[in-house]
Amino acid sequence: MEEVTYQGLTFEPFIRREQIAVEVRRMAQEIKRDHENDKPLFLCVLNGAFIFAADLFRACDIHDAEVTFIRFKSYEGMSSTGEVKEIMGLSEDITGRTVIIVEDIIDSGVTAQQLRRVLEEKHARQVKMAALLFKPDSLKVGTPPDYVGFKIPPKFILGYGLDLDGLARNLPDVYVLKEKS
Ligand code: IMP
Ligand code: MG
Repeated sequence: MEEVTYQGLTFEPFIRREQIAVEVRRMAQEIKRDHENDKPLFLCVLNGAFIFAADLFRACDIHDAEVTFIRFKSYEGMSSTGEVKEIMGLSEDITGRTVIIVEDIIDSGVTAQQLRRVLEEKHARQVKMAALLFKPDSLKVGTPPDYVGFKIPPKFILGYGLDLDGLARNLPDVYVLKEKS
């Protein structure tokens, strides 16, 4: 795997697609163990989580599982704006349901906290969170995700759905911003 360049910045390989596939399968099994009889609704947080959500949902063979989508935006370039915008809302009735939020990455936790609030207002029975990537050292609000693929240091990541201003989502592996040497 080669380095990649976006907007003049260099990124190096960080997590390979084979490792991602292993952890996604593990997470899917954990969710099945906990929620097989709950008719869970997977809630994919667009845009970043769409690739992870597709793989996780496909790997999780719960007969009554459903998937839907919501769109939030908090990042501009390589940092959080601190303000989370709901760009596309939820159309389903989630009253009494188990909702599994599917996020690409938990950074400050602000997006996740806002989302939990929205789902509780709509009377979900229980809300769980699955995140492919989690930056524990960056967490400012809320609790760690219930299902985590990889704990990573507080560095900027892209690929496998994660972007830099819309770019690089189609990279099959995860890359990290290279330190200047
Ligand atoms: P939080 O609200 O600070 O937890 O940020 C959550 C959102 O910011 C994620 O769902 C991503 O869309 C984006 N984000 C956070 N860290 C990164 C990163 O390292 N690369 C790309 N996007 C990121
Ligand atoms: Mg996101």
